[in-house]
Amino acid sequence: MEKRMTHERIAIVAALSVVMGLWPAPSRAVDWSTVTGKDVVLFYPAQMSWATVMTQAEHTGAGRFRKDKNCRECHDGAEAFSGEQLVVANPMEPSPIEGKPGSVLANIKFAHDAEQLYVRFEFAPGAQPNAGMDAKFDTKVAMMFDDGSVYEMKRAGCYAACHIDSASMPKGTGPKGAAGEKTMYLPGSRTQPTRDGGGDLKPAQDLASLRAAGAFAEYWQAGLNPGAAAVPHDGTILEKREEHAAPVVTAAATFEEGKWVVTLSRKLKVGAPYKDIVPGKTYTVGFAIHAGHTNRRFHYVSMEKTFTLDQGPADFVANGP
Ligand code: HEC
Repeated sequence: MEKRMTHERIAIVAALSVVMGLWPAPSRAVDWSTVTGKDVVLFYPAQMSWATVMTQAEHTGAGRFRKDKNCRECHDGAEAFSGEQLVVANPMEPSPIEGKPGSVLANIKFAHDAEQLYVRFEFAPGAQPNAGMDAKFDTKVAMMFDDGSVYEMKRAGCYAACHIDSASMPKGTGPKGAAGEKTMYLPGSRTQPTRDGGGDLKPAQDLASLRAAGAFAEYWQAGLNPGAAAVPHDGTILEKREEHAAPVVTAAATFEEGKWVVTLSRKLKVGAPYKDIVPGKTYTVGFAIHAGHTNRRFHYVSMEKTFTLDQGPADFVANGP
């Protein structure tokens, strides 16, 4: 009896402390065992860029994409095969990483509570050769999403941000890792996209109105090393990738028996420059995994997927508690 009282009292004090903001609310509020996940194949894309996929001579799907078909309508189910083709030496891959697997299968779950959206990734990267490109992180897990404001992202997911003149791509300029190198960017930030990439940057005021209209992508990322705390990053992509100095996204991860379990989370509404995550909207999302100390384009990517809150047609419906 005495003991139970004590426990009750502790619980009450804890609850009051949360209400009063003395203790942070527990960030692992989700019981993941009750959430159904979906398998997503992330494939190695080599140097296939927006320009390449839009060029009929280099990509059979170009014309139909322009006309009516989104990428996934032809590619769903064929990602592992694509990865196998692209990861070895081929016209789209001048510097293959010896022994690298062509794809990674991830089971992904979405959930939310009153405050936060949570995204959980579970995957075994397999035997990944150490590419030695990123000394800091063994693995990185990322997602990029939009709320329907970016036309190209809605139809092509991450491919809207993947360009032939970005760092480590065929027309990438500047020494690798240099401050001036081009990152990911969206076609809408350029005046006249050309065969070789972006065309000219739009004037600053145009970019500012695009940003104000929400025509940018948001990304969340976790930098991972086995046995160490996950390091969160977040930012936006419009004319370039801009990382926020102090991320609001949090990340947690474990690596056991060859398998990563990674959770990314942030508040549903944070205010600019983040996107509001609200019921009734469908978000286009793409996932990426850098495995084996890789950087830049040497990652695995997914075709475009969708998520929404509570109900509606989407690949991932994040349910509340
Ligand atoms: C009408 C169907 C269709 C659409 C739409 C389509 N593709 Fe393809 N894609 C193909 C076919 C067929 C191939 C294989 C032959 C080739 O490369 O032309 C291919 C090849 C590829 C490859 C190289 C890997 C491989 O399997 O050969 C990538 C990467 C790719 N497509 C990405 C995309 C992206 C990104 C989009 C959307 C912007 C897209 N595709 C839209 C049909 C399509």
